[in-house]
Amino acid sequence: MSSVPLVLGIETSCDETGVGIVRGHTLLGESLASSVDEHARFGGVVPEVASRAHLEAMVPTMQRALDQAGVTLADIDAIAVTAGPGLAGALLVGVAAAKGYALAAEKPIYGVNHLAAHVAVDTLEHGPLPEPAIALLVSGGHSSLLLVEDLARGVQPLGATIDDAAGEAFDKVARLLGLPFPGGPWIDKAAREGDGASITFPRGLTGPRDQAEHRFDFSFSGLKTAVARWVEARERDGERVPVNDVAASFQEAVCDVLTAKAIAACRDRGVDTLVIGGGVAANSRLRVLAEERAAKYGIAVRVPRPKLCTDNGAMVAALGSHLVAAGVAPSRLDLPADSAMPLTSVVA
Ligand code: KG4
Ligand code: ZN
Repeated sequence: MSSVPLVLGIETSCDETGVGIVRGHTLLGESLASSVDEHARFGGVVPEVASRAHLEAMVPTMQRALDQAGVTLADIDAIAVTAGPGLAGALLVGVAAAKGYALAAEKPIYGVNHLAAHVAVDTLEHGPLPEPAIALLVSGGHSSLLLVEDLARGVQPLGATIDDAAGEAFDKVARLLGLPFPGGPWIDKAAREGDGASITFPRGLTGPRDQAEHRFDFSFSGLKTAVARWVEARERDGERVPVNDVAASFQEAVCDVLTAKAIAACRDRGVDTLVIGGGVAANSRLRVLAEERAAKYGIAVRVPRPKLCTDNGAMVAALGSHLVAAGVAPSRLDLPADSAMPLTSVVA
């Protein structure tokens, strides 16, 4: 028997039901069920639909992850579950399930922060995270720049979006270009055939006046509107919309701002590790541009493989494993699901 604890993680904060099993920094088993297809025709996640899908997927997803790892619930040493932030009803399903499993198997439970889990998942690919690090978390629900001094104790927010999340902007622009939901991967694909320098779209919160108040904040709503106006103007004139060029130019604007601010945060805090997570971290241009710009300042960029960037159970297990190793006390069995869980709290 290994002395390194076996930690199971459960994720249900949005539309993915995920279970992962981790020992140390090694992912032993994982399973994911997504309700994304059920939300597609609405162009965004419908909370009630997501909650019901979690309820139906929870038990089979758990069983598949255990089978893949070749273990049973009795072998697990601790259970971690996303306690927030996220959709209240969706979180509740995972938290209730985790409590049931913890109670039945008499295991400690850790109600953890979803954003901290997006940071922790990188350890499954690249090993222990050098601290301090700057984390850029970009997904459909969040866009944040964080200072990570000690992941087990909490992370410090440096900036966040003041309107749309980065992934939300990808999804909305994809919709107006007639691309399917979720739009990120489709924009990424279309952009490869387009010219990112063909249209100059606005870079939100990068003006001289934003340096004082919004240096590390993001804004994507003006960009989304600019793309909409540009497309409308072509359509009004009966011109063909160059979808690939619009996708590439929009993507360039987002990636330019994200990487410029992330690198500026690293330099400002004297940090030489940048970890990128969340669904948008799967973006091919974001990865290339981040590495290109970071290299100039000797900053190492860590981006986990795309499957680990989007919501999954392994990220929760990775954070749980980190917390257990750091000797952090578990949560109480009556821990609440907290849809607005603050970044400064890693464990509920
Ligand atoms: O982390 P995630 O799976 O769920 C949330 O917590 O939101 O992120 C989903 C988001 C969606 O908005 C999706 O369009 C975006 O990540 N996304 C991408 C790419 N793959 C997924 N955005 C840009 N480029 C991609 N390749
Ligand atoms: Zn997420």
